[in-house]
Amino acid sequence: MTAESKKIVVLISGSGSNLQALIDKQQAGQISGQLVAVISNKQNAFGLTRAEKASIATHVVDHTQYSSRSEYDQALANVIDTYQPDLVVLAGFMRILTPEFVQKYVGKMLNIHPSLLPKYQGLNTHQRAIDAKDETHGVSVHFVTEELDGGPVVCQAEIPILPDDTAETLAERIHTKEHIIYPLVVEWFCQNKLVMKANQAYFDNQVLPSTGVPYVEKS
Ligand code: GRF
Repeated sequence: MTAESKKIVVLISGSGSNLQALIDKQQAGQISGQLVAVISNKQNAFGLTRAEKASIATHVVDHTQYSSRSEYDQALANVIDTYQPDLVVLAGFMRILTPEFVQKYVGKMLNIHPSLLPKYQGLNTHQRAIDAKDETHGVSVHFVTEELDGGPVVCQAEIPILPDDTAETLAERIHTKEHIIYPLVVEWFCQNKLVMKANQAYFDNQVLPSTGVPYVEKS
């Protein structure tokens, strides 16, 4: 780890395939930051196994053991803060966060959401895009603000919705894009190319448009 290398804590609740993409890119030298810890709110999250295999410290902060959202978020922050991270990455962390928690990490917390934000904030995004007969669907990486799935978008990848798509097939194709754009964005942050100021995302000192940096597949 170099002196400037950023410390990254990843929060998960489930499979952790996005975490795996980050681990793989870090191991390939394509993420210059250091994944220092993975924290799950669920004991059985498979992502914990992925982290252990990569020799990353793991913690479970089980939300069922806390009587209020704010107590839980305080306990979670206590664990996060032992690592003094530069960046907190939400990678399928299925919890609504309190405004106090979000404020603590504002400008240094990213989330990935499976829709072309601002469309389809919240859950069941793939089915909602199919039901609306949208021609395209996608995924967004954004800075986390107090508005659920509402912070400034950093990068989006868009894919066509095919006539036979189900929520499952669409989710699968979206996932492959997630695994490309999330590591890219994390590395931009690690390289200080990406910052959030006054509720706006800046890339190379330029304010990003509301759709962020478009991800265009290289052929
Ligand atoms: C992804 O679809 C992500 O967009 C959403 O939660 C899912 C996490 O998947 N926020 P995984 O645990 O990384 O496989």
